[in-house]
Amino acid sequence: MAVDVLLGLQWGDEGKGKIVDVLTQNYDIIARFQGGPNAGHTLEFEGYKHVLHTIPSGVFHPNSKNIIGNGVVIDPVIFKKEIDNLLAHDVKVDEVLQISRKAHLILPSHRLLDAASEAAKGKNKIGSTLKGIGPTYMDKTGRNGLRVGDIELPDFKERYDALVAKHIQILNHFEGFEYNLAEIEGTWFAAIDFLRERTLIDSEHLIHQALRNGKTILAEGAQGSLLDLDFGSYPFVTSSTTTCAGSCTGLGIAPNKIRKVFGIFKAYCTRVGSGPFPTELFDENGAMLAKKGHEFGATTGRPRRCGWIDLPALKYVIDINGVTDLIMMKSDVLSGMKTIKVCTSYNYKGTEIDYLPYRIDEKLLSPVYTELSGWEEDITTLENFDEAPQNLKNYVAYLQKELGVPITVVSVGPDRKQTINLEKEAAV
Ligand code: GDP
Ligand code: IMO
Ligand code: MG
Repeated sequence: MAVDVLLGLQWGDEGKGKIVDVLTQNYDIIARFQGGPNAGHTLEFEGYKHVLHTIPSGVFHPNSKNIIGNGVVIDPVIFKKEIDNLLAHDVKVDEVLQISRKAHLILPSHRLLDAASEAAKGKNKIGSTLKGIGPTYMDKTGRNGLRVGDIELPDFKERYDALVAKHIQILNHFEGFEYNLAEIEGTWFAAIDFLRERTLIDSEHLIHQALRNGKTILAEGAQGSLLDLDFGSYPFVTSSTTTCAGSCTGLGIAPNKIRKVFGIFKAYCTRVGSGPFPTELFDENGAMLAKKGHEFGATTGRPRRCGWIDLPALKYVIDINGVTDLIMMKSDVLSGMKTIKVCTSYNYKGTEIDYLPYRIDEKLLSPVYTELSGWEEDITTLENFDEAPQNLKNYVAYLQKELGVPITVVSVGPDRKQTINLEKEAAV
């Protein structure tokens, strides 16, 4: 009957996996619509921590189906590892997971192209996750890509060889880049055989049918809106549409079927990889956020850069996505901060502006802050927002007033249970 979309509003890692898991009980289907194994979505419950890369975060609930949509790019090797991990935890993954035949395949040579391109860029590198994401989407738009459905064709190997021959030609242009493709191909083909045995579907038809039958769908975004190919901090972005529009193209959903858009943000801000980050901190506050928030990438283990929350950037992506509900994550990490800064506008080439301009690099732009008082209390066991420290209530009230969208959930820790639903309460 309706599709809700959940997506990150910053540079990724906002806590999407945790919240999809919490919300799954309300939906019949959870569907990933873009990205691939560059994503790392962490879920914590019952003393376990799981990191998912390609598989939707609804997979732990036996009553919901999970779809990997046509907009996703799949590395069969990483996919197989994810499934093996889930099976080791007794998750009946094959009973709940279906994969679109139109999703594109990441080849071993895509990963090599990603590495070669990054190495050639030197200090201007994107800081990609090196999972082959950019080259795979390039082949998709270049109309050369291989799709999951192709593995059912008798001439799959010839198609593979033809594409790899093109890749080798390109790789030969990268001087000094050494590689051994044969070494990684064997595992890839074994994983293709494994993928062939999973449930492959024409996902858009299944989704349309489900909607006709009154089912509810939650579309799970990967990355964040500031990494969007069009609207993010280009060229330091990923290669897919991470904004709400991506759920339409990545699943075959018509825009008028979208009901709620959940926008997730951290109570501060992080970024991993290169690119501008106006509110980035290089002082003890930044170090404190990194340490307390355990800010290391779930996919690459790289340290995440940390900074204050950025309202002009959030307002921009709220408009682009049509966000109806805001979800604030990692509020507990701010406990103990005497003062919390909030970027309210920018100084841009000597003028104060309150919107995100064409370029946001630090040479042109510096943040203008307002200060709010912090709170001392540990809030990780908080269950009722009425009992929250007054300054946390003030922070939430301030943000929702400035952003013009209600904050409906406040997260106070990584566990499923550390989630406060403000809609059920008198709240702020
Ligand atoms: P995603 O990519 O958006 O799913 O987010 P990641 O899983 O990459 O990163 C979020 C990290 O923060 C994970 O390690 C989560 O377990 C953790 N996390 C999520 N919500 C909270 C929270 O409210 N407080 C704290 N302290 N950690 C959280
Ligand atoms: P989740 O879904 C944070 C970043 C990379 C790099 C840029 C391009 O866990 O939030 P790519 O490999 O996509 O070509 O890298 O995008 N990036 C992410 N940062 N979270 C992610 O996903 C990311 N996926 C990609 O660090 O800066
Ligand atoms: Mg992540």
